[in-house]
Amino acid sequence: MEIFKEIKPLKAFLKEKTPAATIGLVPTMGALHHGHLSLIEASKRENALTVSTIFVNPAQFNNPEDLKKYPRTLERDCEMLRQAGCQVVFAPEVTTLYEHEPTVTFDFGTLDKILEGKFRPGHFSGVALVVSKLFHIVNPTTAYFGQKDFQQFKIIEKLVEELKFDLQLKMMPIIREPDGLALSSRNKRLSEPERKKAALLFRSLTEAKKLLIRGEKIFNVKEIVNQNYKSVDGVKLEYFELANIENLSPAETVTNQTILLMAAYVGEVRLIDNLLMEE
Ligand code: PAJ
Repeated sequence: MEIFKEIKPLKAFLKEKTPAATIGLVPTMGALHHGHLSLIEASKRENALTVSTIFVNPAQFNNPEDLKKYPRTLERDCEMLRQAGCQVVFAPEVTTLYEHEPTVTFDFGTLDKILEGKFRPGHFSGVALVVSKLFHIVNPTTAYFGQKDFQQFKIIEKLVEELKFDLQLKMMPIIREPDGLALSSRNKRLSEPERKKAALLFRSLTEAKKLLIRGEKIFNVKEIVNQNYKSVDGVKLEYFELANIENLSPAETVTNQTILLMAAYVGEVRLIDNLLMEE
């Protein structure tokens, strides 16, 4: 496995391999888990060369404390990637991707103002900025992202369409713990009792989905989810919304095009999850 910290040698290496080899790109912020590895596996199945990037992107953190506490485990990550058969890692320093404070920002209209965007202003602009840089540097055939960050995937779809990036995007399913908790690098920050409580996110989503299938009104289902959270100490629901999977506009009726999205604090740790009505 080749590890690069600088752009030029990475580009030279990739140039030598292409156009013969298709390139699969898996961007990450490290602190890898099996969710990330499922993206590597998908890329390996479909491409001659898999490139993973590890970069904790300051531009997408609206909360400095969150950025500071984000787990950084580069050596372990590289070992996991090597075992997963990833051929190339790009793990730049902050100054390599940001020579100065970025002045370019992105505006996605409503899409980056709702749901996550409402609670994390500037977050998706920062995601779009770093993903654009990575697309330019790696020039992948296909880039892989997780459904775990569904709104992020929608933003990146828009980015690719608007900026005419010549690549394919693939969204892979959410990998979960046995109790349903979606794997996340942030789970490492949960204490043991918090870790148990964190199952509430997926439990509420599945309960809500069942109620909606039975024909329960959206308003009542939201109320039940709210109550679920109120009955557990140390958890706080930030939002629970139903949206259309195409543009994430609020869903007034439930169809197989509806997605349930949730963000909540468990202790100090902010977690997100979602569930498709169609799944
Ligand atoms: P990060 O949170 O490290 O996630 C990297 C990729 O792994 C994302 O596409 C995310 O959706 C996916 N992922 C995370 N948890 C998953 C799970 N449980 N199952 C399946 N896939 C999962 O998302 C980011 O980094 C950043 O915003 C990034 C795109 C790298 C830009 O900085």
